[in-house]
This record gives sequence, structure tokens and C-alpha cells, in this order.
Amino acid sequence: MKKICFATNNDSKIAEIKLLLQNKIEIVSLKEINCIEDIPEIGTNIEENSFLKAQYVSKKYKIPCFADDSGLIIDALKGEPGVNSSHYSGTRNDEDNINKVLNKLTNIDNRKAKFKTVITWYENESFKQFVGEINGTISLKKIGNGGFGYDSIFIPENFDKTFAEMTTIEKNIISHRAIAIHKLMNFLNN
Ligand code: IMP
Repeated sequence: MKKICFATNNDSKIAEIKLLLQNKIEIVSLKEINCIEDIPEIGTNIEENSFLKAQYVSKKYKIPCFADDSGLIIDALKGEPGVNSSHYSGTRNDEDNINKVLNKLTNIDNRKAKFKTVITWYENESFKQFVGEINGTISLKKIGNGGFGYDSIFIPENFDKTFAEMTTIEKNIISHRAIAIHKLMNFLNN
């Protein structure tokens, strides 16, 4: 069975992809290939960071690899927080990051935003990227208790509730990450 590395130590991301691949391919995490160092995330956008992670791991550990990177892109904030989504406020605290976004959008009518995931597949010096996006709007305040990150302020298009008000199953059908993962799956299954 082909063995590939998913450049993450997030157990729920590993479990999700294993379920989708139905044991057709062996997926190993960073820990499992003994990659314990911090991988440099010095890209200026989501595409670059996703690429740099996959390239670093594949070249150093000589294994086919894929890596994901995601972020929230807000029209009125010229694409912020984007590649800085996880630490937009200067901390990695979701509450602080959300508050910074809501403060910056005070009295701004254009609340359009999107979530974007880029997955990079890297093998033998060549690579391919898979993009998943979901459009929506930023709510006026936090609504809902589920999820993580900016879920409680993101209302996906054609819905009247935030990601944080959805079940994991509901969110995983429509999310940016799910769209990118399905594109990767089609590629791997072929
Ligand atoms: P990562 O690249 O998947 O680690 O995502 C980077 C950051 O983007 C996270 O720390 C969150 O702040 C934000 N983010 C990405 N995906 C989501 C999501 O599905 N819901 C809420 N926030 C997200």
C-alpha cells in the first residue's frame, strides 16, 4: 500500500482524511515520520504556506506528502486576516482574533468574506494544488457555540446561521476544507 504523509499533527484532520480514503492509502502524520521540528511558515499567502510545508517535508523525509493551509479572507479588510488568520490579533486566541475582526468591521456595510483552503501535493520534485472556497458574510456579533476559529462570525452563503451553529456533519458537507479534500481524494484515487 502506498504510504504518504499528511503534514499535520492535528489528529482530527488525520482521522477525517483516513475515513475518506477508506484505508486505500496509508496516511502518516508528522509525528509518525519523526518530524518534530517547527516547519517554517514564511509564505506571504495561503498557497505559498501550503506549498512550503509540503515541499519541506517531502524533500527532507523523502516521502510523498500533502499539506493544507487555510484562512479567512474579508473583502473590506483587503483580504485580511488571510495567511495570518491563526494569529491575527497577535495571539493564537480565537476570541481575540474574532474581536479584532469585529472591531475593524464596525460601521462597515460590506461584510463579504470567504474561507479558503489550499492543499499542496508534493512528490518527486513536482507538485499540484487543490483549492476549496466557501463564500459568506461576517455577522455583526458572535453567534453559536460549535466549531473553532472564526466559525461563530461566518455565515455561509445561502444559509441563515453561522458555521458555529451547524453540526460538524453539516459544516463538513459544505466547508472550504471539505471541498479541497474531495479534490485531493479524486486525484489520489486515480
Ligand atoms: P489552518 O491552516 O487549517 O491551521 O487554519 C488557519 C486558521 O484559519 C485557523 O487557526 C483559524 O483561525 C482559521 N480557520 C481555518 N479554517 C477555519 C474554519 O473552518 N473555521 C473557522 N476558522 C478557520
